[in-house]
Amino acid sequence: MKHLLSLESMTREAMEAVLKASAGFKQHRDAPDRKPLAGQTWALIFSKSSTRTRVSFEVGIHELGGRPLFLNANDIQLGRGEPIKDTARVLGRMLHGAVIRTFAQRDVEEFAQFSGIPTINALTDDEHPCQVLTDIHTFQERRGSIQGKIVTFVGDGACNMPISWIFAAAKLGFELRIAAPKAFQPSEEILRRAGGNIQVTDDLQAAAKGSDLLYTDVWVSMGKEAESADRIRQLQGYQVNAALLQRAKPDALVMHCLPAYRGKEIDDATFEANADTIFEQAENRLHVQKAIMNWLVQS
Ligand code: CP
Ligand code: NVA
Repeated sequence: MKHLLSLESMTREAMEAVLKASAGFKQHRDAPDRKPLAGQTWALIFSKSSTRTRVSFEVGIHELGGRPLFLNANDIQLGRGEPIKDTARVLGRMLHGAVIRTFAQRDVEEFAQFSGIPTINALTDDEHPCQVLTDIHTFQERRGSIQGKIVTFVGDGACNMPISWIFAAAKLGFELRIAAPKAFQPSEEILRRAGGNIQVTDDLQAAAKGSDLLYTDVWVSMGKEAESADRIRQLQGYQVNAALLQRAKPDALVMHCLPAYRGKEIDDATFEANADTIFEQAENRLHVQKAIMNWLVQS
């Protein structure tokens, strides 16, 4: 039984297989012979808000021949305290796959363990693997292999997005720089587990120098709303803008997983100047996730 629970647990071979297949799913979006989920029902069980992830999975499951079933975690008994392992054992008898967005990474892992059906992490506090696989695909569409390139993540360097980037970097052989204030840097433990060429610094200007990709994400992730004011104060200045882009390579890409907060992690002019790349990332969620689901159901 295959799952996509994190990039930490995904092998390099699996990442490469998914990335390779993604282009085909994009090019032949409506191929009538590509229905690996025919006759299947896959649930989306979400405890956090979503635009891109929800819609791309619902459309993607449908396009692969399956039926998506959206379940707001608060509308099912899970929201009233039914244990995950019981929910998983019930749903595993009725469904063929599950896409889960929640807080704790261990909850997705427990669901996978007890449900016995392919399970996808659609964002936890620890990782956002579908987004980072999509971002790498988008980079490679525009610039060729990411191996040997320099990716600089700017902002909250301890949230799910940079953590998934960290595990991808070690496996796919690119340099990752994380520019964040000390309180928002990834833990030593994660860096040790990942290995690879990861530089962590609070020197934003140095980190951007010579980069092939400047990447940013919100300063206030879902679940951190109570810390908003403090985060905005501490992360002030860790912004992708024209001055920072000047330090990167002349053909550097700017990416954002969205949603974006202009004037915080990115300024409006830089966002709009790079909107074509940023919205291509959003569209590519559909194609890459179809490749992920196809990979999960192949034996
Ligand atoms: N980037 C991303 O996962 O967007 P949503 O939160 O809208 O799904
Ligand atoms: N770090 C963000 C990613 C949103 C796609 C969050 O967790 O809210």
